[in-house]
Amino acid sequence: MSHSEKYIANNDRYNSAVSYNYCGKSGLKLPKISLGLWHNFGDVDDADEALSMIKYAFDNGITHFDLANNYGTPYGSAEKNFGRILKEHLRKYRDELIISTKAGHEMWPGPYGDGGARKYLIASLEQSLKRMQLDYVDIFYSHRYDPNTPIEETMGALSDMVKQGKALYVGISKYPEDKAREAYQILRKNGTPCVIYQGKYSLLSREIEQEVLPLAAEQGVGFIGFSPLAQGVLSDKYLNGIPENSRAAHSYGFLQQKQLTPELIERIGKLNSIAALRGQTLAQMALAWCFHRKEVSSVIVGTSSVKQLQDNIDALKNLQFSDEELWQIGELGGRM
Ligand SMILES: NC(=O)c1ccc[n+]([C@@H]2O[C@H](COP(=O)([O-])OP(=O)(O)OC[C@H]3O[C@@H](n4cnc5c(N)ncnc54)[C@H](OP(=O)(O)O)[C@@H]3O)[C@@H](O)[C@H]2O)c1
Repeated sequence: MSHSEKYIANNDRYNSAVSYNYCGKSGLKLPKISLGLWHNFGDVDDADEALSMIKYAFDNGITHFDLANNYGTPYGSAEKNFGRILKEHLRKYRDELIISTKAGHEMWPGPYGDGGARKYLIASLEQSLKRMQLDYVDIFYSHRYDPNTPIEETMGALSDMVKQGKALYVGISKYPEDKAREAYQILRKNGTPCVIYQGKYSLLSREIEQEVLPLAAEQGVGFIGFSPLAQGVLSDKYLNGIPENSRAAHSYGFLQQKQLTPELIERIGKLNSIAALRGQTLAQMALAWCFHRKEVSSVIVGTSSVKQLQDNIDALKNLQFSDEELWQIGELGGRM
């Protein structure tokens, strides 16, 4: 019997703390916590821990895994590693999984490996499907707005991917509000409505609250927040320096040490004290806080260990905030 056949997912997975929200007005349900594979699942990362995190996530009801063509170091390696794990361990659970990928940032050299052109998006999804050894993804995103490509062309490519059966749903990420509005209109006209907007959201990054969230609600589009822990800053890990192996310590990561100013760390310390009074870790409070906006369908966490994932799932045990707590958090958060 192969190792893959020995892995039997925990049958209690849908009785854990993870519950599901409808994604906007669509019929798609997403776990409140989704797992993102931007960091920690590439060829430079610990493959055993990556496997353990994916199994732990699924065993605890996290059905949604978020990828992009360029995730992992090197680019593409997160999709390749995820594809191998899927094939070896989760193949029989494919219909229980929501797998998303994206194209829009730099992926390969030359004029066709970046942006929002039809040429790039269609080729990129083909490559992603091959790397993940899949016939289709559940959600395909335009990863960012490209001002140099007509939006009708970008949206047309997304719609065609759905019509060809290579994606079940489409989404957009990081679009400015006016372009998101146009995208929603075009996708609806094409018969492939946008189900989801993916945007950066944490108590240190609240820009989307003003326009993007109300627009999503108005248009019946779901919202999924990325980097809800501000890449780990919203935890107690940087309160006493930069631990070895943390994201800020890595030369290839996206969190830079210069972002961790003494002023920011002082505010993080105060937020940590508020979390302690609630009986939560700061990471748990930061995740729970995202749901104070009813438009939020899910948040995508990135984790480097099973222990972090466990900690994060437990955030869902207390999503209630008093007005006083929300006010205090608002005073300390807001910017990085
Ligand atoms: N659409 C886009 O443009 C876009 C952009 C960025 C991200 N995303 C998506 O969002 C996902 C999440 O982004 P992110 O990785 O920046 O999210 P994040 O959850 O804000 O940060 C993840 C990092 O936080 C730390 N962490 C997580 N749980 C912790 C805990 N319980 N206690 C202490 N530290 C904890 C870990 O840092 P250490 O590694 O230091 O342990 C982990 O690597 C990505 O994987 C990707 O799917 C999308």
